[in-house]
Amino acid sequence: MKELSLHILDIVQNSVKANASLIQISIEEDTTADTLRITVADNGCGMDKDLLQRVRDPFTTTRTTRKVGMGIPLLEAAATGCGGNLDIQSQLGVGTTLYAVFGLSHIDRAPVGDMPGTMSVLVSGSPQIDFVYTHTVDGASFTFDTREIRTALDGVPLDTPEVVSWIQAYVYEGLDSLKTK
Ligand SMILES: Nc1ncnc2c1ncn2[C@@H]1O[C@H](COP(=O)(O)OP(=O)(O)O)[C@@H](O)[C@H]1O
Ligand SMILES: [Mg+2]
Repeated sequence: MKELSLHILDIVQNSVKANASLIQISIEEDTTADTLRITVADNGCGMDKDLLQRVRDPFTTTRTTRKVGMGIPLLEAAATGCGGNLDIQSQLGVGTTLYAVFGLSHIDRAPVGDMPGTMSVLVSGSPQIDFVYTHTVDGASFTFDTREIRTALDGVPLDTPEVVSWIQAYVYEGLDSLKTK
């Protein structure tokens, strides 16, 4: 995929489908370690050991198990192609955390892409879910948290058009203050 934000959108859809009520997305850029780490953590239904092993299988084996899709293998291929890796921890009934690490300066690493657009699409598509997005660049960070916005809005739904465009602008400005890659 051309942008990491598209992978994130895809991975977060898994958490939405897993009935999560809280989804935490984090992107950490570390120029010293030369890594870009993406973490998506949810409190959804989780996976049993068998499924967890199958989603981690490479393309060839996942193709034989038709119930398993391509979102995770595609992200894993993108990460390993940039000198990184992918890891998933999951517990049935508790939730799932996915980690993907990329070589930050690797020539094949896709740009982060449109995270303001991604967050506004996610919130407007699932206004009942709480999202936390933290972006860190060498220790400086920006956090967007729908739980705080919900409190401030005092009952106004998050998928109200004015709120959605405000969210997009808010995340855009927050990221603008960091030197994101
Ligand atoms: N966060 C998650 N919580 C629960 N199950 C998950 C989660 N992420 C992935 N899965 C399981 O792994 C499967 C494969 O995910 P993925 O590779 O994204 O393909 P797809 O979403 O197309 O099925 C999903 O269908 C789902 O059963
Ligand atoms: Mg998926």
